[in-house]
Amino acid sequence: MEIRGLNSKEELTDVFGLYEKVFKKTPLSYFKNRLLNDPYFAPQDVRVAIEDGQIVSTITVYRRKMYWRGKAVTFGGIGNVATLPEYGGRGLSTAVMNNAIAYMKQNGFLLSILYTGIHRFYERVGFITPQAWRARLTITEIASGQFKIREFEQSDLNAVQELYLRFNKKSNGPLIREPEYWRANLLFAEENERFLVAEKDKVQAYIRVVPENAKGEVWEFAYDDENAFLELLSFV
Ligand SMILES: CC(C)(COP(=O)(O)OP(=O)(O)OC[C@H]1O[C@@H](n2cnc3c(N)ncnc32)[C@H](O)[C@@H]1OP(=O)(O)O)[C@@H](O)C(=O)NCCC(=O)NCCS
Repeated sequence: MEIRGLNSKEELTDVFGLYEKVFKKTPLSYFKNRLLNDPYFAPQDVRVAIEDGQIVSTITVYRRKMYWRGKAVTFGGIGNVATLPEYGGRGLSTAVMNNAIAYMKQNGFLLSILYTGIHRFYERVGFITPQAWRARLTITEIASGQFKIREFEQSDLNAVQELYLRFNKKSNGPLIREPEYWRANLLFAEENERFLVAEKDKVQAYIRVVPENAKGEVWEFAYDDENAFLELLSFV
C-alpha cells in the first residue's frame, strides 16, 4: 500500500469516483464545488491510499487560518474522509489520517479540526471531542421596523466582510476570510440558503440560514448593532 498526496489536480477525477461510491446520499457536486473553488487548494492536501492500482481511501486537509489570541494560526480542516466499502475495516482510513497528521505537522499547521458523528474513530488518532454547547434564545421584545431587512446582494460584500472582521477578529477560532475566500465561500453556499442583511444607513447585521435544515441551524451571523441582529432573527 502507498500513502501520499495527489500529484496533480487531474488526479481529483479518481478521488471523485471514490466519493461517488462512498457518499451515496451526498451529490458529487457538493464535493466538487468545495474542492474546485477552494482558493487555497493544493493537490498534496488530498491524501490518498493506493492499493491494487487504485485510490481506495482518502482524506482532504482544507488549509485555513483562524484568529487565535490576536494572531493568524494555520490549521487543517479535515473533510471527505472515505474508504471504498470493500476495503473497509482494514485500518486504511486510520493510516491515511496518521499520514495527514504527519503532513500537517511538516507543513506548519498548528492544529486540526473536524466535525463528525463517529467521535471514537477520530479520538483513536488523537483528536479530542470538546464539550458542545447548545443555546436556546427566546426573543421577547423586538424593536421592529428600525432596520430594512433584505436579501444579501453582491454589492454588500465589502460591508459584510468588514462586519465579519469587526465581529470576529478578537475571538479565538473564527476563520480568517480573505476576499478570495469570501468569493469562494459564496460559490459553495447551500442552494436554498437565505442570506439576509439588516440595514440602517449601512449594513448593521447579517445572518445566513438554511430554513429547511433539519436542525434549524444558523450557519453564521455578525452584527454591529444587536437590535439589527434580533430583527433578522425574527425574520427567519
Ligand atoms: C469511516 C470510514 C472512513 C472508515 O474507514 P476504514 O478504512 O474502514 O477505517 P479503519 O479500518 O481505519 O478503522 C475502522 C474503524 O472505523 C470506525 N467506523 C467506521 N465506520 C463507522 C461508523 N459508521 N460509526 C462508527 N465508527 C465507524 C470503527 O471504529 C472501526 O473500528 P474497529 O476496527 O475497531 O471496528 C469508512 O467507513 C467510510 O468511508 N465511511 C463512509 C463515509 C464516512 O462516514 N466518512 C466519515 C465522515 S466523518
